[in-house]
Amino acid sequence: MWQNTRSGWGWMSIALHWLSALAIIGLFALGWWMTDLGYYDAWYNKAPWLHRSAGMLLLLATVGRLVWRLCQPTPRAEGSRFEAVAARLGHWLLYLALLGVLVSGYLISTAKGSGIDVFGWFEVPATVYGFANQADIAGTIHWYSALTLLALAAGHALAALRHHWWDKRLTLVRMLSAKYARRQ
Ligand code: HEM
Ligand code: HEM
Repeated sequence: MWQNTRSGWGWMSIALHWLSALAIIGLFALGWWMTDLGYYDAWYNKAPWLHRSAGMLLLLATVGRLVWRLCQPTPRAEGSRFEAVAARLGHWLLYLALLGVLVSGYLISTAKGSGIDVFGWFEVPATVYGFANQADIAGTIHWYSALTLLALAAGHALAALRHHWWDKRLTLVRMLSAKYARRQ
C-alpha cells in the first residue's frame, strides 16, 4: 500500500503530493505577506524564520520525494498519447520550478555565510555564499520561480479537475486513495 504500482499511487506518493501542495500554497501566502511587514511589526523576524524553517523541511521532503519517484514505478497515464506526454512534461516542469524556488530561497538566506536555523531543531549550513548581489539575484529568481510554480500548479489542478468531472477518468481519485495501487 505504500508503494506505487502501474495502476495507482501508493500512500507515500499521495501523502508527499498533498502535504507538498499545502506547504507550497502556505509558503507562497506567507512569503507574500511577510515581505510587506514593517520593522516594528511583531512578526517582522518571526514570519521569515517560519518561512525559512518550513521551506527547508519542504526542500528535504522534495529531495526524498524525487528519490522515491525515481526508484518506484509510476501509474500508467490515461488518455491519448499527446495527453500522456503533456502530463509527463508538466509534472517535470512542476518539479523543476519547485527546486528553483527552494534552492533560490536557500541561497537568499545563506548569502552572508550564516546557516539556516530550522524551528530551533537543527541548522542547515551555508555552502555557496559571498557572491556579489547574491541575495538580490537569488531573491529575483525566488519571486519569478514562485510565480511560475503557482501558475503551473493552477493549470495542473484545472487539468486534474477536468479529467475528473468532464472526462470521468480515475486520474484524481487515484491521487486520493492508494486502493487503486492494489489492482495490477
Ligand atoms: C515552495 C516553497 C517556497 C515558496 C512558494 C516561497 C515563496 C516566497 C514568496 C512569494 C516570497 C515573497 C517574495 C517577494 O515579495 O519578493 C518569498 C520570500 C522569501 N523567501 Fe520564500 N518561498 C519558498 C521557499 C523558501 C525557502 C526554502 C527559503 C529559505 C530557506 C525561502 C526564503 C525566503 C526569503 C529569505 C524571502 C524574503 C526575500 C526578500 O525579502 O527579498 N523561501 N518566498
Ligand atoms: C502546489 C500545488 C501542486 C503541485 C506542486 C503538484 C505537483 C504534482 C506533481 C509533480 C505530480 C506528478 C507526480 C509524479 O509523477 O511524481 C502531480 C500529480 C498529480 N496531481 Fe498535483 N500538484 C499540486 C496540486 C494539485 C491539485 C490542487 C490537484 C487536484 C485538484 C492535483 C492533482 C494531481 C493528480 C490527480 C496527479 C496524478 C496525475 C497522474 O496520475 O498522472 N495536484 N502533482
